[in-house]
Amino acid sequence: MSRLQKLQSIRDNAPAILPSLLLCDFGNLEREVEQLHAANVPALHLDVMDGVFVPNMTYGLPIVKAFRQLTDLPLDVHLMIAKPEQYVEQFVEAGADIITFHPEAIDDPVPVLEKIRDAGIAAGLAINPGTTVAEIADALPLCDIVCVMSVEAGFGGQSFQESVLEKFEHIRQIEGDRVVLEIDGGVSSATIEKCNTAGVELFVAGSAIFRSDDYGIAVEKMLQTISEKAG
Ligand code: DX5
Ligand code: ZN
Repeated sequence: MSRLQKLQSIRDNAPAILPSLLLCDFGNLEREVEQLHAANVPALHLDVMDGVFVPNMTYGLPIVKAFRQLTDLPLDVHLMIAKPEQYVEQFVEAGADIITFHPEAIDDPVPVLEKIRDAGIAAGLAINPGTTVAEIADALPLCDIVCVMSVEAGFGGQSFQESVLEKFEHIRQIEGDRVVLEIDGGVSSATIEKCNTAGVELFVAGSAIFRSDDYGIAVEKMLQTISEKAG
């Protein structure tokens, strides 16, 4: 399978809502995944936090493996950890199809992006609101995807920061259509249209999905918001 096949399969479904499973019921992952299958999401977004790079701790390799066993959907693994370079092989082995990590966590992201690509999966950077596109310009040619954070990495349920949206146009100016554009943080039916207008292809949503009773309806509501405005 080609390195980019899974990422391309998500892009083919764009605009695509990717559930962030931070707030899901970890006591019943099987039921959660079934409900997400029923909601027709094209991939799962998994937030790995280490309590060092960010002041919050979530889950790591065993949970990524557990999701891998429960679904064939692509797994978009967002590493919010110090020393991401030390864990690339293990997350690939656990079943990641895409790995994004933070340039704020290391001196030079380029060798880490190369390591992820060499492991045969899609690679990208996730940038916090304070990091500019110019700061990652040297690494952009090695990114298959860029995840622009519209909240400070670390917690679900934060308020959307609209000012980050200008980064998408900047990335397109440098890289054209090659790089997949993802937004993460505070995405809901109240904010998604602005993201869509800014050129976002993949929309990560946590609380907008997991704080609702029906995941399918929550996803559909966000997609409808985009298509109504577009039509
Ligand atoms: C934040 C995570 C996000 C986030 C999404 O650090 O990367 O994926 O939890 O959750 P909401 O949609 O609630 O902001
Ligand atoms: Zn995330």
